[in-house]
Amino acid sequence: MASTPGEASERIERLRGLIRRHDHLYYVLDSPEITDADYDGLMRELRRLEELHPALVTPDSPTQRVAGEPSERFQTVRHPVPLLSLGNVFDAAELEAWERRMMNLIPGEEIDYYCELKYDGLAVALTYEDGVLVRGATRGTGTEGEDVTANLRTVRSIPLRVTGPDAPRRFEVRGEILFPIDRFEQLNREREERGERTYANPRNTAAGSVRQLDPQITASRPLDMYVYSLGWAEGDAPDTQSETLAWLGRLGFKINPDNRPVATLADARRFYEDSLDRRDSLNYGCDGVVIKVDSFRLQRLLGVVGREPRWAIAYKYPAEQATTRLNDIGINVGRTGALNPYAVLEPVQVSGVTVKLATLHNEDYVRERDIRIGDLVQVQRAGEVIPQVLGPVREARTGAEREFAMPEACPECGQTVLRPEGEAIHRCVNPACPAQSAELIKHYVSRPAMDIDGVGESIVAQLLSAGLIRDFADLYGLTEQQLADLDRMGEKSARNVVTAIERSRERPLGNVIFALGIRHVGAETARLLAERYGDMELLAAASQEELTDIHTIGPVVAESVFTWFRDEENLRLVERLREAGVRMREEGTVPIGDLPWAGMEIVLTGRLQELSRTQAEELVRSLGGKPGRSVTKRTALVVAGAEAGSKLDRAQRLETPIIDEDEFMRRVNEARQQTGGAAV
Ligand code: IVH
Repeated sequence: MASTPGEASERIERLRGLIRRHDHLYYVLDSPEITDADYDGLMRELRRLEELHPALVTPDSPTQRVAGEPSERFQTVRHPVPLLSLGNVFDAAELEAWERRMMNLIPGEEIDYYCELKYDGLAVALTYEDGVLVRGATRGTGTEGEDVTANLRTVRSIPLRVTGPDAPRRFEVRGEILFPIDRFEQLNREREERGERTYANPRNTAAGSVRQLDPQITASRPLDMYVYSLGWAEGDAPDTQSETLAWLGRLGFKINPDNRPVATLADARRFYEDSLDRRDSLNYGCDGVVIKVDSFRLQRLLGVVGREPRWAIAYKYPAEQATTRLNDIGINVGRTGALNPYAVLEPVQVSGVTVKLATLHNEDYVRERDIRIGDLVQVQRAGEVIPQVLGPVREARTGAEREFAMPEACPECGQTVLRPEGEAIHRCVNPACPAQSAELIKHYVSRPAMDIDGVGESIVAQLLSAGLIRDFADLYGLTEQQLADLDRMGEKSARNVVTAIERSRERPLGNVIFALGIRHVGAETARLLAERYGDMELLAAASQEELTDIHTIGPVVAESVFTWFRDEENLRLVERLREAGVRMREEGTVPIGDLPWAGMEIVLTGRLQELSRTQAEELVRSLGGKPGRSVTKRTALVVAGAEAGSKLDRAQRLETPIIDEDEFMRRVNEARQQTGGAAV
């Protein structure tokens, strides 16, 4: 443990270097070298050292990604060099015409091309000074955008500090912010479960996430960024697009590995065809390819018309919509009993893929668009996103179309269906509904939960219908023989499944909590609960108020957790998991009730010197305390910084103990020592 400030500073720098390297490996190169637990260990150590030595905290530290208070509105920023747009072509003839236009302007020159994907996200520009990210702005009009620095800092594939000695003193890179499709679908599923409106597509969601006034919200979104150009640089830079991107990759930016330099337009066309074939396997939205003249010298000779450079073109993919007949509307029952209507379509080709089913989200969606069974409907597919029905072709109606009504009984178990007030979702009230059990078990075994490989949809269905299991706790009683007797299961796979079930007992507590399938408790929330409580029993005993006090846990989640643990069936389920040897405690965390400041309400007021407000609040929470907004009789302590106003007056009147920042830090350190440094 580093004890002198000098040692601490050295260790802090070393930890930052390590974390940057592992962030780069994980978020940029997609090839992690250490486990999540080891990474968390490095982060924890760095956080702790920085808390002990707040003066050593720098804005480019990996701990400072989420910093800053919500803002009222974004500042407008002028782009020193405008961000351009792109001309479009839709077929090979138009593409060749583009090349001919260029040839006429630069006769005798040989053109090499650089091919990239055309990402469907939000364009942003990042400015670096002395290696450090100092500004992130949206494209906006191209000449003026919005300052979204605090939000872009939370995007993990954006380096807060660039690596290597050959970075120019000041430069700007440009690229696209994307919302990964699998995470987008997950987010929508969660929102749907909660009865919230779902988002239309990953692009709008990426844009909406970047334009949040509260960086905490942006931080909770798994945004990603591909860099596609150098905006400007003070100092030396390469003179082709291909070298520029390779160089930016070395500086730590995420560059798409699919980019290709090609020698002819025919090769560029092949790049387009290949990318079209692979489009559905991509986890981000793309609506074409961008073909650029590789040489910057030729780019300058070709110039720009209006906003569009002559030296680059977007070769767009064919439209992704089609019209077909809506034969029926089916209902799918989810793990929390949510009834989701889906469209059964006359099979139709949408950009090369046959679509038979499409989502209809919920009853309101169907009503608002007046979608009727028998309608001719417009279907849309965007990348890998589940196809959706956009709406009916009203002119094509014959009068034979039928209006849709949500069923009054659950199609799976026949029990009552209710639509809770204020929600968009109908739910089956029967907790033992077989559809719900199956979904719940599938959730339990899924990778982010208990990671029991080899138990797919059909195995779960067979196990349930054979009466071998009724819920996920029954998984732990399965034998190799029982599994081997199932369809599509050999002895070897049966052995693997048993091993996977065995191994799942060791999953961290956060995964176990997530696996329970408590409504509104996503993987991240579950991890947080595990960190705060460290013990299933303590979590089960937590009051609603106590849960709400945890930062980032709102009243809806708190109520859901509280209610879940008040249900006898659920408690029995947890008990059976415990008996099966599933992890119920996390070693090394101090339960919240045992923390030195448990239950203490502490009000921070005025400007602190060393700590930001958020850091100070985080320190209070980490020791079990609760940052309060106003001084009341319940307030245990007031920490007053410079220019403290009415809160200080009120504290004096109520005779609440008042301390300054130094004393606060001293007490923090003292309290930390009491916990042996194990407080979270
Ligand atoms: S280059 C040449 N490269 O397309 C100037 N742009 O219509 C254009 N885009 O707002 C920038 N992928 O956000 C470039 N590989 C790529 C791109 C790309 C997507 C977007 C960009 C811009 C829009 C221009």
